[in-house]
Amino acid sequence: MSFFRGRRLRQTETLRDILAENRVMKEDLIMPYFIMDTNEKHFRKEISSMPCQYQLSEYELIKQVEKSVNKGLKSLILFGIPTKKDPEGTGAYDANGIIQKAVRALKSNFPNLIVITDVCLCEYTSHGHCGLVQNEKVLNDPTLKLLAQVALSHVEAGADIVAPSDMMDGRVQAIRTALDTYNFTETPIMSYSVKYASSFYGPFREAAEGAPQFGDRRTYQMDFRNTHECFLESGADVAEGADILIVKPGIAYLDILRNLRNTCALPLAAYQVSGEYSMIKAAAMQGWLDEEAVVFETLTASKRAGANLILSYFTEDVLDYLDK
Ligand code: PBG
Repeated sequence: MSFFRGRRLRQTETLRDILAENRVMKEDLIMPYFIMDTNEKHFRKEISSMPCQYQLSEYELIKQVEKSVNKGLKSLILFGIPTKKDPEGTGAYDANGIIQKAVRALKSNFPNLIVITDVCLCEYTSHGHCGLVQNEKVLNDPTLKLLAQVALSHVEAGADIVAPSDMMDGRVQAIRTALDTYNFTETPIMSYSVKYASSFYGPFREAAEGAPQFGDRRTYQMDFRNTHECFLESGADVAEGADILIVKPGIAYLDILRNLRNTCALPLAAYQVSGEYSMIKAAAMQGWLDEEAVVFETLTASKRAGANLILSYFTEDVLDYLDK
């Protein structure tokens, strides 16, 4: 037998704990919320494909966030569901749109909470695509102006960080330029830099009511058969002025996350997406998986692969677990 005995350092819980290289902390986690534009003050509707996740009215959002902040929530990301959609997604940059209202309410109630907004058009366009459409084609450059307008409207409402998720080429630069022009030079951009066209987004499209009405998103989101594009996408976003990069989805893309960690010095975030949440939740509800254990294992895997931050629908649960 060699001199190495792996079991020496695994003998007791305390020994394992002091030697653990990676651990999940409250500060790592970003909770996504779905906010509905509705006059129904107490609106709270469970998302059938994401048990225990809700579409919330502004009032219910504030109530829920208050509980989470008291448990140690540091940051959240907002997705809006507007009352009306049109081909240009004009509701996305309405100063009195759902996100803009929610951001103002959140920042006045919780000034220290980091409020991140998802910048995209798909929840606001009648066709459900993330950009302007002509003859069933998603147009890149004409969409940039709109995305910049959306981001600016979020920041004017008080958003701390904007997170473009559309995957149009050049959008980080367009947003950076617009923010700088209006003196929001200090507002960071957290870019969904490496975002694959994934079937794991299925439940989200029910939650945010933003499913494409024709075709799919494969002409703008990345092909999951490819690795090397991740360097081009992240390199472009770094050059355009991104401050934090997101890799999405999470658990099936840890190789990609590790690639970025090894080559890029910006903070990185992993997005444990809706389908990952639903898989774990469904198996746990059947009694087939230990939810808490699997949640910690998957989140820790993201940290091990190089994530500084993790967007996860389990965030509120983890805040409770960490208090135990
Ligand atoms: C909007 C957006 C999506 C997600 C985040 N922002 C959906 C999509 O690109 O189709 C997915 C998040 C999740 O599945 O949890 N473009």
